[in-house]
Amino acid sequence: MTRLTPRSVAGLAAAALGGVVVHDLTQRKHALLRNFPVIGHFRYWVETVGPELRQYIVTSNDEERPFSRDQRSWIYASSKGENNYVGFGTDNDVERVPGYPVVKHRTFAGEGAATAPHGDEGVPVPSAKVLGGPRGRRHAFRPASVVNVSGMSFGALSAPAIRALNEGAAKVGCLQNTGEGSIAPAHRHGGDLVFQIGTAYFGCRDERGRFDLARLVDLVQSAPVRAIEVKLSQGAKPGLGGMLPGAKVDETIAEIRGIPVGVDCASPSRHTAFGDVDSMLDFVEMVADATGLPVGIKSAVGNLEFWDELADQMGPRTRGVDFVNVDGGEGGTGAAPMIFADSVAYPFRIGFSEVYRRFARAGLTDDLTFIGAGKLGLAENALVAFALGADMVNVGREAMLAIGCIQAQKCHTDHCPVGVATQNPRYTRGLDPELKKDRLANYVLALRRDLLKVSEAVGVPHPGLIGPDDIDILDGQRAAVGLRELYDYEPGWGELGPAVRRELLPLLQG
Ligand SMILES: Cc1cc2nc3c(=O)[nH]c(=O)nc-3n(C[C@H](O)[C@H](O)[C@H](O)COP(=O)(O)O)c2cc1C
Ligand code: SF4
Repeated sequence: MTRLTPRSVAGLAAAALGGVVVHDLTQRKHALLRNFPVIGHFRYWVETVGPELRQYIVTSNDEERPFSRDQRSWIYASSKGENNYVGFGTDNDVERVPGYPVVKHRTFAGEGAATAPHGDEGVPVPSAKVLGGPRGRRHAFRPASVVNVSGMSFGALSAPAIRALNEGAAKVGCLQNTGEGSIAPAHRHGGDLVFQIGTAYFGCRDERGRFDLARLVDLVQSAPVRAIEVKLSQGAKPGLGGMLPGAKVDETIAEIRGIPVGVDCASPSRHTAFGDVDSMLDFVEMVADATGLPVGIKSAVGNLEFWDELADQMGPRTRGVDFVNVDGGEGGTGAAPMIFADSVAYPFRIGFSEVYRRFARAGLTDDLTFIGAGKLGLAENALVAFALGADMVNVGREAMLAIGCIQAQKCHTDHCPVGVATQNPRYTRGLDPELKKDRLANYVLALRRDLLKVSEAVGVPHPGLIGPDDIDILDGQRAAVGLRELYDYEPGWGELGPAVRRELLPLLQG
């Protein structure tokens, strides 16, 4: 028998370590291990023993922000197609936490409520409304999915991340919003797009940085763009233009955007192509006429006069936006000053209900599609959004988590360890779009399935039919207040009009 000497033990250990390095570098499943061979395993180990450790020392499952460990775990498990159920019951502090939403299921349901046993994952969940239909846009269409990918630019995100989102979105019939950084080659992998016009007009600007309609038309015709979103502001940094740190501005981005390499790329805080609601509506109609596409706006909600004027000026139905996308103050960003991320603009529920009420008072809610964003990629938040009148939800950071983000919160440094929010090849090489596209697709399917399951529990066949009387907000153990009362919604608000319902219901029976 050969005796083990200290030398041979060291040799064996080195060989084993070498084997782990080779395995980590060549496997494609975990971007973290490809980028950080061997040491990356510690994170997975800590994750495994985390529940036991945390019970005694660190934070609870629901404490971390922006996304708690429970929320992230649900997204990770869903995206991997793993078991995303919980055992033993909720670990949320349902009895004491104020602001906790509770969905009120019905014992007996009306006709059409039942979906196949617990909503098959493949069941399509189209938007209740036709985007651009009410204003007769030439390329009006009904979005195939109530869950879509929120605007995140190539630049803020890496090429493989954009590609994974694009291919994943294509698999499950979602729209991918380009964000304000124009259309990159990574956006051209089959997924339908919403093109975002930001204040710097990347992709549709002339040499002096002014909006150029002809370039916009050329660009949107060169890709499967289904709608156009004019970005007025973003929840995480409203009133402040986009900011791409110079470290992320490589040659490709510089070329796509028409800017110098390596220099901070700051967008103006406001548009130069229009300066008030009147000229904005002219701009929207001009873009819709020239492209035939539905055109809407994305905005965070602060001063409410803008929304008063918008609803007023859309009243005669001669001009109008095809959708409004309300971004909550709790929304994400690649980079923003802390004061903007923390304190400027209303959180989603308040902001959205204020916007919705203005259109409801004007009798216009069926004339446009309402979209929301701001942690709405979690079923309970999305359900509140639908109950308040949203027709679709956009998912930003949840989509990033699905394709491998570990919430390291270094998006502004170009050192994203998993290659999602960086342009550094040292990190982007770890992200395999082939694998991660399935992660995005699985996550979207799981979210849509949960939305359908809860709709079924409430007794309706589509999340758009959940209304403000179906959800209460708890105030600890003392009281439960309905969304209608809390947000002062009048009868009929938050609900689809009869014509929209008539068109939707037959689609759900097939
Ligand atoms: C890395 C990153 C980049 C983003 N880039 C844009 C952008 O270019 N345009 C935009 O309107 N919003 C942008 N957003 C905001 C998201 O589209 C979304 O509105 C916000 O994060 C709220 O959704 P969430 O809570 O699901 O992330 C970005 C967000 C992140 C995290
Ligand atoms: S892992 Fe960290 S740096 Fe990368 S995208 Fe997620 S939060 Fe941003």
